[in-house]
Amino acid sequence: MHVEAAASARKPVTIPALLAMKSHGEKIAMLTCYDASFAAQIEAAGVDVALVGDSLGMVVQGRRNTLSVTLDEMAYHTRSVAQALDNTLLVADLPYMSYRDAKHAREASARLIGDCGAAMVKLEGAGWVCGIISDLVAREAPVCAHLGLTPQAVHRLGGYKVQGRGQDAAERLFADALAVQDAGAEMLVLEAVPAELAARITRALAIPVIGIGAGAACDGQVLVLYDMLGITPGKRPKFSKDFLDEAGSVPAALRAYVEAVRQGRFPAAEHVY
Ligand code: KIV
Repeated sequence: MHVEAAASARKPVTIPALLAMKSHGEKIAMLTCYDASFAAQIEAAGVDVALVGDSLGMVVQGRRNTLSVTLDEMAYHTRSVAQALDNTLLVADLPYMSYRDAKHAREASARLIGDCGAAMVKLEGAGWVCGIISDLVAREAPVCAHLGLTPQAVHRLGGYKVQGRGQDAAERLFADALAVQDAGAEMLVLEAVPAELAARITRALAIPVIGIGAGAACDGQVLVLYDMLGITPGKRPKFSKDFLDEAGSVPAALRAYVEAVRQGRFPAAEHVY
């Protein structure tokens, strides 16, 4: 079936539906999104999950990192995207320091899920973050975890670098992935991780693992929308691809991305660590 027809015929993407896609070996296509016009295009292309990422601090606001993004800004963009989505599952990032303790995490999640229309919040890290994940999940705030290159930790990491290289780092990351799943996370984004390690984590976890720079064996892929349209200023990350260049229009680029992810053609060898 053509992707456009598939998009209009499809049922709403839910968290259980994503779990079923993993168990059937169907790849999940996810993209970041920050406004209603692009959200309508993403919906029409049949993207499964839209992420209002705090990457908006960099690609929309032109900041050097994501750390200055506020909860008010996340709420504004999440509400804008939610207006235009029908069947696409909406995930919103909890910004830096908004989940520093359970009280703030609950309030921030209530805002993004309850007020703004997200179905799930995403937060970065494991360790003490696992306590926050359990607390949110127990209160019906579904959580997507984010491990590997966690941009909110850019200063500690010393830049935007591949994570999980070498045996000790790989074992730590593997243990963190199991820990966030045990804490109740229902999806995991793995960013900038060697493909072999990401494949091992994907096999070990029951929840969907969505890669960005983590190889083709993940259960799905996510890219920053402006990177995959080739409009982010500066050098495109190795793991991204300009789909607009070949496709010629935004709707065609989005459909090409969905098809490439579904068929396991993206990421290719040149996008992998
Ligand atoms: O903020 C964001 O866009 C993200 C993606 C890179 C996964 O977290």
